[in-house]
Parts: sequence; structure tokens; C-alpha cells
Amino acid sequence: MKIAVLPGDGIGTEIVAEAVRVLDALDLKFEMETALVGGAAYEAHGHPLPEATLKLAKEADAVLFGAVGDWKYDKLDRPLRPEQAILGLRKNLGLFANFRPAICYEQLTHASSLKPELVAGLDILIIRELTGDIYFGQPRGKRVATDGHFPGADEAFDTMRYSRPEIERIARVAFEAARKRNKRVTSVDKANVLETFQFWKDVVTEVHKDYPDVALEHMYVDNAAMQLVKKPKAFDVIVTGNMFGDILSDEASMLTGSIGMLPSASLNDSNQGLYEPSHGSAPDIAGKGVANPLATILSAAMMLRFSLNQEEAAQRIETAVKAVLAQGLRTPDIWSEGTTKVGTREMGDAVLKALA
Ligand code: IPM
Ligand code: MN
Repeated sequence: MKIAVLPGDGIGTEIVAEAVRVLDALDLKFEMETALVGGAAYEAHGHPLPEATLKLAKEADAVLFGAVGDWKYDKLDRPLRPEQAILGLRKNLGLFANFRPAICYEQLTHASSLKPELVAGLDILIIRELTGDIYFGQPRGKRVATDGHFPGADEAFDTMRYSRPEIERIARVAFEAARKRNKRVTSVDKANVLETFQFWKDVVTEVHKDYPDVALEHMYVDNAAMQLVKKPKAFDVIVTGNMFGDILSDEASMLTGSIGMLPSASLNDSNQGLYEPSHGSAPDIAGKGVANPLATILSAAMMLRFSLNQEEAAQRIETAVKAVLAQGLRTPDIWSEGTTKVGTREMGDAVLKALA
């Protein structure tokens, strides 16, 4: 088994280092190989996703990814920006199914921005389609008006589109996942306005015929955003498109206390996967040793479960994380009165200790 380790930028290197230590401590037989990605790869090789990094990722059974991006690259041409690395990996590896579980750990009920009773015991799974939608739809671009008299005629455009097979396969992933949980799927769309999402709704409804044991409801994305903070525990599995999923998963992360707790898995149809925290590179706190490594450590657990067939090891990590939270150790993002503030490395140390 081979794991490609791509730490990336900002806090990416710090948090991935802790996850790698945890993986090493498991004493399982896998090989890990590290490569540059994002801004770090751009600095070294002039491209955010160098050929060698892509090759390593393609050949690996799983990719452990940190984060990419920094404001200092905002002025680069789009194909050279760090974000293109993660988008390119998702597209090239066909990672269409993105799992973003939002679980509120008992000890963090008070770290949430919502009232504890609204989030206590929360366990929802957002399934975000990851290789289609307005993120990748063509045509896209910018048209500069050639007639200098009408600068207002300049425009930019992106294309929102989904094909039937793209919707069918993500709908199946969602129904299958729901079968292993509380058997409820909420499909989030904007069918009242957008053709793309009327089609989405129709296709999800068709696929649902094969899953009569799972309850399906449809919800407009604006209402879903509201319901997530009004009554989050009413959800079980949420399935939605790339852009709505991007937005709703950030919203859901706050229910759990911190986006620093949210892992993710992105899978293709051969269960090859990329595992990354749902948060970004946080350049504002990079290098300070205060980033929360738990989202990445929990992503490593998802990697063991989904791509490496090591369920037991995955559970060991998850149990260790819960133990550390129970000890009252908190990075600043989840700190609250009466708990002990620790840094990235200390948090990693504590997880290692709990594993042993
Ligand atoms: C995410 C991120 C990415 C996305 C960015 C970095 C391209 O926000 O993984 O949610 O929009 O998908
Ligand atoms: Mn995002």
C-alpha cells in the first residue's frame, strides 16, 4: 500500500506532519512518499501541480493532502494558482464523491456557535459532488469589450452544468451511505431557478426508485442553509452539487465547534481516495504551531477505512482523538473556559500517547 503525502502550503505542512506521525505509530505496512503541491510546488517548479506530483498521486492507493493557497499568489494567472493543484488532483483522479462528515463531539458541544442542545450528538454527512458543476463547466472566461467607448460591456462567465451520469453516480453514493446510517437523504438544489438543478432533482428522484428503503426529501439550498442552523439534527445525509456543497460544508463545520475538526474523503469509483481536512491553509496562523491537526488526523482515519481497508486502525485513531478531547486538551480554535490550551505538536503528542 502506498500513500502519497502532499502537505502543501501554510498550516498544511504542520498538520500533515502530525497525521504522518500518527500513521507511523500504527505499525502497519505502508509506504509514504512526500511531494510538493500548491504554492510550495509553484515556488520550486513553477507549477502548483507538477507532473511528478500528479504521477505519484495517481499511482498511490491514497493521497493524504494538507492545504494549498496563500494570498500572495492571488495575482498569478489562474492556472498557476495553488488552488488549481487540488482542483487538478480531483479532476485527474476522478474523485467525484466528497464525504464531509460533521460530527459534534460530546466534549465540544460548548465550542459550537449554536446553543449546546441544538448540536449535542450531531452527526450529519454531507456528500458533495466534486468534479462537475460551475467549478468545471465550460465555457468559462472573461470577455473584454473591444469598443473602448463601452467599458461596461466587459463580462466574465462560468457555466453551471451536470450530466445525467454525473448526477446518477453521486446520488447512488448518497443512498448507499444513508443505508449504513439513518436512511434519510436530503438532496439540496435550486430547482426553482436553475435548469441544472431541476435536472439534478429529477435524476435524484429517478435513482431513488432503486432505494425504497431510504427516505428522500428535496430542499432548496437557501432553505438548507437556514435549516442547518435552525435544526441541524434533522439532517442525516445531505447530497448536493459542487458549489452548494462547498458552502454548506463550511457552514456545517461551525456546528461542530471548529472547521479544524472536519475531515474529508474524496473518492473515485475504484475507492482510490484523497483525504484532506475541510479547512484551508490559514496563512494567518501558519508557522505559529497553533493549528488544529485533528481534522487531518481524522482524515487519515478515513483513509485507513475507505482506501486501505484498515477499519480497526481507523477506529483506533478516532478513539484516541476522543480520549484527547476528554482530557481537556484544546488548540485555540476549540478552546473554551476550563480547558487546556495546546499547540499543534502537543496535540499530536497527545494523540500518539492515547494510541499507545
Ligand atoms: C474546499 C476548498 C476548495 C474548493 C478550494 C481551495 C479550491 O474551498 O475544498 O472546500 O472550493 O473546493
Ligand atoms: Mn471550501
